[in-house]
Amino acid sequence: MPRYTLKVNGQVHTVEAATDTPLLWVLRDNLDLVGTKFGCGIGQCGACTVHLNGVPARSCQSPVSTVTNMEITTIEGLSTDGSHPLQQAWCDHDVPQCGYCQAGQIMTAAALLKNSPHPTDDDIDGAMAGNLCRCGTYLRIRSAIKDAAAKGGQK
Ligand code: FES
Ligand code: FES
Repeated sequence: MPRYTLKVNGQVHTVEAATDTPLLWVLRDNLDLVGTKFGCGIGQCGACTVHLNGVPARSCQSPVSTVTNMEITTIEGLSTDGSHPLQQAWCDHDVPQCGYCQAGQIMTAAALLKNSPHPTDDDIDGAMAGNLCRCGTYLRIRSAIKDAAAKGGQK
């Protein structure tokens, strides 16, 4: 089995995996970073969203062989203690219901605030459109993003 060196949340790891293994499974099964979730496996739901060089990406659609020279950030790397402004806003607004989609939601929102520190409702709706929530938490997500933005959420 090929070996790959990955930089995840600032730490370098070497993993053994088949060339076409999705990054999602390497994160979860090889590195025990289980905050990133499997939803659909076909790039349609956003539950598996991580950052690749700061850009939100679907880890279920990212073969491990294509991410070896990238800075990979997962929900576990957003902050070490849940103190990222988005994570705090998510708590303040009681955003999650079942919670399954929320790591992906937060990672997409974090990338949005990096590029657009004061997003409009349209900006938020556009950026978040690819992240589905079966529990329908969309309005709370939007409120939390605006709150985090107001508090300097582009950390
Ligand atoms: S699990 Fe990757 S987009 Fe749904
Ligand atoms: S909180 Fe349940 S799927 Fe989003």
